[in-house]
Amino acid sequence: MQVDISRVPNLAKFDHLFVLLAEGAAEVELAEARDAIARAKFEGRGDESITILADGPRKITLIGLGKRESLTLRGVRAALTSVGRIAKKQRDKKVAVLFPELLPQLDAEESLVAAADMLGQSDYKYDPYITVRKEQKRTPIAATLLAPASIEPKRLRALTTRLKAVYDGVTTTRDVSNAPCNVMTPEALADRAVEVAKETGIKCTVYGKREIERMKMGGLLAVNRGSVLPPRFVVMEHAPRGAKTHVALVGKGITFDSGGISIKPSEKMEEMKFDMCGAAAVIGIMEAAAKLALPVKLTGIFAATENLPSGSAYKPGEIITMMNGKTVEIVNTDAEGRMILGDALHYASKLKPDHILDYATLTGACVVALGSETAGLFSNNDELARKLIESGERVGDRVWRLPAWSEYKEGIRSEWADMKNTGGRWGGAITAAVFLEEFVDCPSWAHLDIAGTAYAESETAREARGATGAGVRVTIEFLQSLSRR
Ligand code: BES
Ligand code: MN
Ligand code: ZN
Repeated sequence: MQVDISRVPNLAKFDHLFVLLAEGAAEVELAEARDAIARAKFEGRGDESITILADGPRKITLIGLGKRESLTLRGVRAALTSVGRIAKKQRDKKVAVLFPELLPQLDAEESLVAAADMLGQSDYKYDPYITVRKEQKRTPIAATLLAPASIEPKRLRALTTRLKAVYDGVTTTRDVSNAPCNVMTPEALADRAVEVAKETGIKCTVYGKREIERMKMGGLLAVNRGSVLPPRFVVMEHAPRGAKTHVALVGKGITFDSGGISIKPSEKMEEMKFDMCGAAAVIGIMEAAAKLALPVKLTGIFAATENLPSGSAYKPGEIITMMNGKTVEIVNTDAEGRMILGDALHYASKLKPDHILDYATLTGACVVALGSETAGLFSNNDELARKLIESGERVGDRVWRLPAWSEYKEGIRSEWADMKNTGGRWGGAITAAVFLEEFVDCPSWAHLDIAGTAYAESETAREARGATGAGVRVTIEFLQSLSRR
């Protein structure tokens, strides 16, 4: 839903007012809300919610958040998601939301923006292919997050602008990721990048198979051999004048990962349409950054192909020469992400950026280690790692560091080539990361394994099923912290 942050003198034009409140006395400026709280004897317990019929707004729903001292961003997200779901069910068109609480580590303004961001995504559902009951498709809900008197109107407009940029970026990432894999082919993924670039006025270059061959991207070409669809290599550029820092963003764009010759079991294989969520994150980040006019130079890069078995597919036992000249013995064709990322990271390194960040649904092992609460973070730079962890915490798009010590390189040692493409089962997320590092020439690199966070396998209290937009918020927050300094 579209959200703006403002002070509203007159609530009469809203269908529904939602009040999110923790236990204990919070300063509630709004008379209508104070009144409802008193009438309902509402305490704000975590399991408490009640709807009161009123006039102007017609309905007031009070939602409890539990103890103030144990408020978390992700807990509040569940409450905000219920706002979206209730409003949708009740066909509300205009809703107002009051959230007078502070989120951990955030001030009043930041708490408001975080809440508005979560509220914006709260009614998200990917439904372009639902054809039944189309006539009932609702008009979109417009939401207003009520701002306290202490924030100036001018600030509110700036906050709303920032909010819309992030909303657009996250929504693009979710839509692109959720699209079915017969539609979101490598070519279509590149086309989406071009569209976003046109819309935001940034540059975008798409390389086809011939150019990829000329660049000797052996990893991308090897993975692509099983597919009848040609690969794409895409470079987007946001280059504001006077930018002092250059950050390269690199995404994994496997539009469907069957495993190839080392084929995956068929159970849940359909989820492997999400194997391009890293590339989708790059597109969404570029969109948000351009719309925010962030004063940082950004190069968004992704490699896209399907990974399929066929008579021409790459096979275990092959040795592939990558773009940087290193050789890789293939032992498992399902470790394809690192093959295409190896080339993309080398390409990024040649641009000599200050930082390289990559996004990839890279390993099941990362999901085993960290579940779906946090992405895996690997970095050759402690300072960068710390900043990313902090940024993720602030915006509810968490990353958590795992080691990438050189001892783990032992796992990918090959008898026949410079390395092999898997290190076996144990520490699989880490051996994947140290494989990637072989292609990185940059003192400040971070790899985000978003296999567990990029999509939700089923609906939860916090989120719709499908793509989440993981990686976008943490990166925008990080990029903003660079320019704040
Ligand atoms: N795309 C998968 C990783 C994945 C698994 C993402 C589950 C989301 C959910 C990746 O290409 C892959 O297949 N990785 C293998 C690596 C192994 C062969 C070393 C894996 O994790 O099993
Ligand atoms: Mn795979
Ligand atoms: Zn994959």
